Amino acid sequence: MPRRARARPSMSAAAWHAAAAVLIVVLCSLRLAAARVQPSHGGALATKRRDNVPAGACALTAIPFGYPCEEHTVTTDDGYILSVQRIPRGRHAGAGAGAVGSGLGQPVLLQHGVLVDGMTWLLGTPEESLAYILADRGFDVWVANTRGTRWSSRHVSLDSSSREYWDWSWDDLVVKDMPNMVDYVSTHTAQKPHFLGHSMGTLVALASLSEGRLVDKLKSAALLTPVAYLEHMTTPIGILLAKAFVGEIISVLGVAEFNPLSSAVSKLIRELCRHPGTKCYDLVRDFTGNNYCLNNSAVDVFLQYEPQPTSTKTMIHLAQTFRDGVVSKYDYVWPNVNMEKYGQPDPPSYNMSNIPATFPLFLSYGGRDELADPADVGLLLRDLMAHDRSRITVQYLEEFAHLDFVLGTCAKDRVYGEVISFFNRFN
Ligand SMILES: *[C@@H]1O[C@H](CO)[C@@H](O)[C@H](O)[C@H]1NC(C)=O
Ligand SMILES: *[C@@H]1O[C@H](CO)[C@@H](O)[C@H](O)[C@H]1NC(C)=O
Repeated sequence: MPRRARARPSMSAAAWHAAAAVLIVVLCSLRLAAARVQPSHGGALATKRRDNVPAGACALTAIPFGYPCEEHTVTTDDGYILSVQRIPRGRHAGAGAGAVGSGLGQPVLLQHGVLVDGMTWLLGTPEESLAYILADRGFDVWVANTRGTRWSSRHVSLDSSSREYWDWSWDDLVVKDMPNMVDYVSTHTAQKPHFLGHSMGTLVALASLSEGRLVDKLKSAALLTPVAYLEHMTTPIGILLAKAFVGEIISVLGVAEFNPLSSAVSKLIRELCRHPGTKCYDLVRDFTGNNYCLNNSAVDVFLQYEPQPTSTKTMIHLAQTFRDGVVSKYDYVWPNVNMEKYGQPDPPSYNMSNIPATFPLFLSYGGRDELADPADVGLLLRDLMAHDRSRITVQYLEEFAHLDFVLGTCAKDRVYGEVISFFNRFN
């Protein structure tokens, strides 16, 4: 596919339009869904919304369900202090299996997507959430939390209210967060971990692997709703693209933090949703209705903890991928700035064909997914055409949408069993 011409230096219009569209869809969906559901959660997760005194993800989720759970921190090469939760074994395993510090089970690192955090893997019931299912099947589970999210908002020297703290895009997750967390898990377990990502978590992994970064450090990678290309994101985005309020978005997002729950962003969302033609209610219905097997009370619990902030640079970077139809490093737009950062006037591309053909990959995607659209997954699969057939498994689930893979009650039977067989095959 030929690269689209870059409209330079009018980057901002296109980039902001696309950023706005992504933002509006995600946020309208989450905010309105939050308004509709009744706060009826109970049991292990009956905790206050966004406590000022964080008790830690383990204490809020895994421990009440009876799992061993350890809080770890990983400091990245650029000083971000990331929180990682470890569930070293299942509920019913003796302490001998996967003992603390020397997990006997195969380690698996779970990487969440954009605008959420590692809690995504931990909020459902033990019968439904992937982290618990893996632990109960004998895996040593490590849950990543990307910089800037609730449990990973510290830095050795920067304050998270400063612009400097938020000066990163997903390229930085490729070169810092991912390798630093993988190294940490390897060191603690004396084993190479498997990787499992959802949504932007898969983009970071694919980009890393394409540069040869994690190839010899991971046993395999399972990618749920793989995101590389974004050019086919469908209807709601398309509708909203035409309606982006560029000026307002820029004035709100002048800050370098992109926090969906900040009053400025919330206000913007409300205004955008009120705009004629932007039917946020319909968007929600599409968003949740197209998901195949979401449990409403699970979604309710999810919305108590999500969404989470990211950097505006990450949102712009995703928008550039949407606009350009290629997966590249962050585009600083001005050729001289790109020159200074990359030694060339355009940002370098990530070439997914460069992922070594023997690296074990599992990809699972859904026919109703409007973010990881099947047409875009098709482009990725085209790039992986030369991959060793015995080392790539591709699963297509026609009725699944984006969130089914993480929150769906049917993911266990349809997806997680396959993931576990795949991991066991490449142990
Ligand atoms: C839905 O989620 C709730 C709370 O997480 C759980 O108690 C219930 O068993 C789930 N229902 C189904 C059908 O999975
Ligand atoms: C990506 O890499 C493959 C082989 O590794 C090469 O054939 C192809 O031309 C590259 N694509 C781009 C867009 O550079």
